[in-house]
Amino acid sequence: MTLWGGRFSTKLNQQAWDLNTSLPVDQRLALQDIDGSLAWAQAILRAGILRDEEHASIALGLGAVKKEFTSGQFLFAPADEDIHTAVERRLTELIGDVAGKLHTGRSRNDQVATDFRLWMLGAIPELQSALQGLQSALVENAEKAIPHPQPFSQGEKGEGESGAILMPGYTHLQRAQPILLAHWWLSHYHPLQRDVERLNDLVKRVSVLPLGSGALAGAPFEIDRIALANALGFAEVSQNSMDAVSDRDFAAEYLFCATLIGVHLSKLAEQIVLFTSAEFGFFELADAFSTGSSLMPQKKNPDVFELTRGKAGTLLGLLTGLLATLKGLPSTYDKDLQEDKAPVFQASDTLLMMLPVLAEALRTITVKPERIRNAIDSSMLATDLADYLVAKGIPFRKAHEAAGQVVRAAGEEKVGMEKMPLEAYQAISPAFEADVYQVFDPMQSVEKRNAIGGASLQSVKNQIQKIKGV
Ligand code: ARG
Repeated sequence: MTLWGGRFSTKLNQQAWDLNTSLPVDQRLALQDIDGSLAWAQAILRAGILRDEEHASIALGLGAVKKEFTSGQFLFAPADEDIHTAVERRLTELIGDVAGKLHTGRSRNDQVATDFRLWMLGAIPELQSALQGLQSALVENAEKAIPHPQPFSQGEKGEGESGAILMPGYTHLQRAQPILLAHWWLSHYHPLQRDVERLNDLVKRVSVLPLGSGALAGAPFEIDRIALANALGFAEVSQNSMDAVSDRDFAAEYLFCATLIGVHLSKLAEQIVLFTSAEFGFFELADAFSTGSSLMPQKKNPDVFELTRGKAGTLLGLLTGLLATLKGLPSTYDKDLQEDKAPVFQASDTLLMMLPVLAEALRTITVKPERIRNAIDSSMLATDLADYLVAKGIPFRKAHEAAGQVVRAAGEEKVGMEKMPLEAYQAISPAFEADVYQVFDPMQSVEKRNAIGGASLQSVKNQIQKIKGV
């Protein structure tokens, strides 16, 4: 059974069939398709198309088909072109010709758009909760990196006086200013929070019902589309049938959200790859989240994070692929639109696979506080040295110049700035006094940055409190 045989004298060429069929991809819309059909049956009952007993038979039959899907017993037939055909074919087998009334006033064009949106309304919260799982791991790691009531993190080397783990912060991947490791972990929390919120915003545009738009011109019967939307849990009803069957903005937006998530994860992953290298040695991955080399016995590779970085590229490809497909399409439904689902499903599957692995890999990572702390050198306090002069009344531009001269002089002497004699300082600026050496305590540098969002321990603690909503 195809849904369109009447005007044709021969069957579709087998290879053309293979090209045309979307069942391998859209079979995962089975339950949404059945729910959409149940709601549609109700709508055409109300419109007087179905009699009560016909509606009852269709509803019962659809319930049975649904059970076959949920129990894994549904059998596809060779002629099932797509999921819509498969459901209607099976319904016909179960209840006979009355099944043929179900499609009255409906087209697969509004049907598939409805199914796809229904699927996405379920997929978005799933993605959000996977994101939240990773966010929790980041917050846990941040909390482990600041003073903790339990003694394990107190007083170990590599921690500041306060017990918080200090770390070099980078710009241009060059040592820049000291920060707290907790601040760094949390810097990866916030992009994911924006992703969660961006997905909430997307829900508004997904939750618009296309069903009742027919093929392009709307349904010819008295369909109560608002009741239909309520039955299916849509917040709104589309206002233009031609737009409704062609609109795939929600799919493109979903792919954009997925790509941006991928970019955020990639940024985090890139640093984990870097920081687990022997050269940095800031972190060590648990064996359960590391892989080996077939040739080099010593290798412990961060494949999980490299794949995360790599998949960001794949996600971007899915987004650009769909946008390229949409570009240049004329109004309403074009078969090109059948290309919309595979990239969205792939993006969803990719992220749902990656996010829990990342969360667990980060939870089980070993932090090397001493190694991280030792990567801070006194040149990273050059800004603080300039600020020191500013506190003595020197304009910042001049102070910056003087601190730069100290950096250069220390470089020429091949010593750290904290080792330079006071006379050398005073030769550069008489404003330098004996207390200048206090500048070279990185924790003090961190603690000065106490404005909202800054590096200080209190700011970081406030940040965690705000995140946790306490
Ligand atoms: N399999 C199609 C899709 O995924 C369903 C809609 C087909 N509509 C049509 N007029 N042939 O887009």
